[in-house]
Amino acid sequence: MRIVGTGRVHPSKVVTNHMLEQFLDTSDEWIKERTGITERRLISSERLEDMASEASRLAIEDAGLSASDIDYIICSNVINEYITPGLSCIIQGNIGAKCACVDVNAACSGFIYALDMADDRIKSGKAKNILVVAAEEPTRMVDWSDRATCVLFGDGAGAVVVSEGDGFMASRLTTQSKTDCLYYQRKLEPTPYITKEEHFSALYMNGRDVFKTAVLSSSRDIKTLLDSCGLQPSDIKYYVLHQANMRIVEAIAHYLKLDMSFFPHNVERCGNTSSASIPLLLDELNREGKLQRGDKLLFSAFGAGFTTGACIIEWTK
Ligand code: UT7
Repeated sequence: MRIVGTGRVHPSKVVTNHMLEQFLDTSDEWIKERTGITERRLISSERLEDMASEASRLAIEDAGLSASDIDYIICSNVINEYITPGLSCIIQGNIGAKCACVDVNAACSGFIYALDMADDRIKSGKAKNILVVAAEEPTRMVDWSDRATCVLFGDGAGAVVVSEGDGFMASRLTTQSKTDCLYYQRKLEPTPYITKEEHFSALYMNGRDVFKTAVLSSSRDIKTLLDSCGLQPSDIKYYVLHQANMRIVEAIAHYLKLDMSFFPHNVERCGNTSSASIPLLLDELNREGKLQRGDKLLFSAFGAGFTTGACIIEWTK
């Protein structure tokens, strides 16, 4: 499998830290120092499915293909306005594709899980061109009076098209059932027969626990993958890491003894966009002409579950 096209869409509404100071007991200084975030893009008038469809069109166009060439769609998504049908089904109709579609939810690691599934499907000969989209609106999961969580997130949709080829060098997925540090619990419709007590909770996060687990697990995944490919840390052109917090990116750079030029980032402008963060950043690099044929890129993400996903790809476009 290899990546042949990328696309992205950000919502139009820019929310700065100073705007949050208007209604939260927070400060630009605190948010910047603890997270690196200066502003984030939030859904206001847009619908996530329209953003995801447009990001998909852009990726298909970048690949030099048309929607009829796509023979499978995988959409990574945690939340959107529909519980069912899957977002991938809506995207299929909007872009005019005809193939089978499926959604995956592996929280912020979802894009890597989706890429890994696409690789299996291409290897098995069941598909030739797969659209992998990650579309997320985590700003709809948080309590906007909870300063500990709402300042962290942003919305967005990123997409890639993958085709047959030799660009997917290695991947590693891990899951450790650990629900107490990061979860969002949604209340279901009532029935006349429910007798159990039910709970609703906006996104809960034990930030410190997640921070530590993220740095440890991502560093371990990266080391394991580099070793399995016989690569040194400096053989990778860019580490395209899940954009949750600038301090997590810096901690991983420190662990690998690499300077920050290996770690492109956009968390300062986009906030944490969950599983969309890696394809959003990849599309920026692609469209800014920063990727050359033969470059090796390492993607690494972590999220609720606790899930992690990492892979090394060779840029062959
Ligand atoms: O993709 C999902 C994965 N999520 C993550 O990767 C998040 C990982 N964790 C983090 O990024 C950091 O833990 C946070 C940025 C969430 C928090 O930073 P921290 O350095 O771990 O701060 P803390 O939670 O220990 O809180 C320190 C203080 C507390 O006040 P006290 O108890 O010391 O008086 C908080 O109440 O900062 C306070 N605080 C805030 N103050 C101003 C928490 N949020 C805010 C805020 N503004 N927005």
